[in-house]
Parts: sequence; structure tokens; C-alpha cells
Amino acid sequence: MSNHCDLTWFNGEIMPFNKATTNVMSHALHYGSGVFEGIKCYKTHSGPALFKLDSHINRLYASAEVYKIDIPYSFEEIKQGCLDLVQHNNIDNGYIRPIAFYSYDSLAIHPKECPITVSIAAFYWGAYLGQDALKNGISVTISPWKKFHSSSFPTTAKACGQYLNSLLAVRDAKDKGYDEALLLNQEGTIAEGAGQNIFLVKDGELFTNTEDSSILMGITRDTIIQLAKNNDINVNICRLSLEQLFNADEAFFTGTASEVTPISIVDGLIINNGKPGPLTKKLQRLYLDIVHGKIKIYNNWLTYTSYNNHCSKSKELKIYDI
Ligand SMILES: Cc1ncc(COP(=O)(O)O)c(C=O)c1O
Repeated sequence: MSNHCDLTWFNGEIMPFNKATTNVMSHALHYGSGVFEGIKCYKTHSGPALFKLDSHINRLYASAEVYKIDIPYSFEEIKQGCLDLVQHNNIDNGYIRPIAFYSYDSLAIHPKECPITVSIAAFYWGAYLGQDALKNGISVTISPWKKFHSSSFPTTAKACGQYLNSLLAVRDAKDKGYDEALLLNQEGTIAEGAGQNIFLVKDGELFTNTEDSSILMGITRDTIIQLAKNNDINVNICRLSLEQLFNADEAFFTGTASEVTPISIVDGLIINNGKPGPLTKKLQRLYLDIVHGKIKIYNNWLTYTSYNNHCSKSKELKIYDI
């Protein structure tokens, strides 16, 4: 069943979801030539707020630049579009999906004069892998599909066609009865999940990999690194081997949609007795409190749909400092 909201922002106008359509000969449909973002909107005491909205829009433009998709709207217009959409659809907890792509002009692989279409849709979406996943963790299998190397695709761009790699991996995982896939890179070290970055915990320290492991530079990954540092948790940023994963005390995925999802099983191996570990739980709690506007010092990571009058509203906020 579809969970989209009634209204979509389409080429600068807000219109009914079903009216925001494209030609079947759109370049992006045939060649995957589009870039997109996934942004979460959360219910807070000051109304709906979008988490790290500016970072997402910046990444949208950075991804577009790689593919020479010249977005015909300014940063502010896209930002306002996201906020207007949340307000007009009257959602509090939801998911916002901006996309910019080459639509129809010719079938040549070079997009030549193909016009750029930009759309922002909103969805009623809870936890991507389910509430149970956040609470109890998920099972993961090492994918037989390797993550593409940055010499084949720019791994740091969030581009439509690049997700076929994730699709193969996640289909394989689901067919085998697992919740999610974990992809290795061409060098055989750990890359990331089909739509998530990975963190390991060993002896109270965090470990995650970096761009040269063929990962998308996740905004949630960045958030967790920042939170760990602010809480005196050591973060090691290095290549990660499978051996490190199998010997980890805890492991978790991060992503806008997946938030902080504990990993409890990797193939046959049970991590931390199959229960989310203490550091995973601590960071997950912190993250969820921040996105719901409960921690004052991180409120600048949220953009309130009422951000013009947020200053007066914030006096009524029941917020706490850590
Ligand atoms: C392949 C991949 N890696 C990592 C992430 C996590 O990125 P973020 O935290 O910015 O959502 C995502 C989700 O967007 C993704 O699709």
C-alpha cells in the first residue's frame, strides 16, 4: 500500500502527487541519470522539524555537479520547497525525497538538451527497517555483490543508477531470509550496507570506515562521529576487515532512514548475544532525542517548518541539556 502524502513539489509548484509525472522516455528512467536525497522530518515540541536539512541539500547539489545536472532552482528554493511540503501535507513524522533528473529530449546516452526535472515528494515513513529493528537489531548477510569502486562510479554521489548495486545486494539478502545486506568493496574490506554506513564497537571505542572504502559519506555517520567525540568516545576512522566485524563487541548501521540500527547477527555469527550493546543503545537514544528536538545544544541541526517564528516558540520547549 502506498504511503505517499497528497501533495508533491514539482518543478517549483505544489501539486497533487498523481499530477507530478514524467515521460516514459525520460533519460533518467532509461539510464538512471538522476540524483536524490532522503531527509527525515520529526515531530518535536515546536512542531515538525527536518534533520540536517542544509547538509542534505548541499549533498544533492554536490551529487548533481558530478553528473553535470544543473539544478534550475537555488538552494533556498529547494529548502523552502521541502519545508512547504511538510507544512502543506500537515505531516510531523515523515520522509522527504527530493530528486533532480534528466527528463526527455533524446535517447542518446549523452543527455545533451534533456531538461532537468526537480521534484520533492513526502511520505509517511516510520523506521525504515521497522521499530523492532531499532529495539532488537537486525540480521545481516555479507553480499556476494561487491560495492562498486570509486574508479567506476563516484561513491560519494547519491545517484539513482548507482542504487542498482544496492538493489542486487538487498534482494539477495531478503531471498536468504536476512534483513539487510552488507557489501564488501573491491579490496575485500567492509564498505557499507545497501543504504547504510556501518560502525563497530571494540573495547569501548568506535570504528568506522571512510571514503576510500567505497562508501557514501553519510550524514548520520557524520552525526554519530560528532556525538561520539562530544561524549569522549574515541572514534577510529580506518578500513574495516571482516575479522574486525566478527570480533566486534557491538555493530550498528547508520542512515537517515535506518537511524541507528543495531546489528545482532552477521550470517551465522551472533554479536553481543544477539542484543543491542550499551554503546549502540546510548548513541541511538542520543540520536533519537536530538532528532526529536529534546536536546537544546543540538537544536541547530533541526530546521523547523515554523523556523521564522521558532525563536518565540522555543520558550515553550520542554528541552534538556546533556
Ligand atoms: C548507500 C548508502 N550508504 C549510506 C547511507 C547513509 O547516508 P545518510 O546517513 O546520509 O542517510 C545511505 C542513505 O542515504 C545510502 O544509501
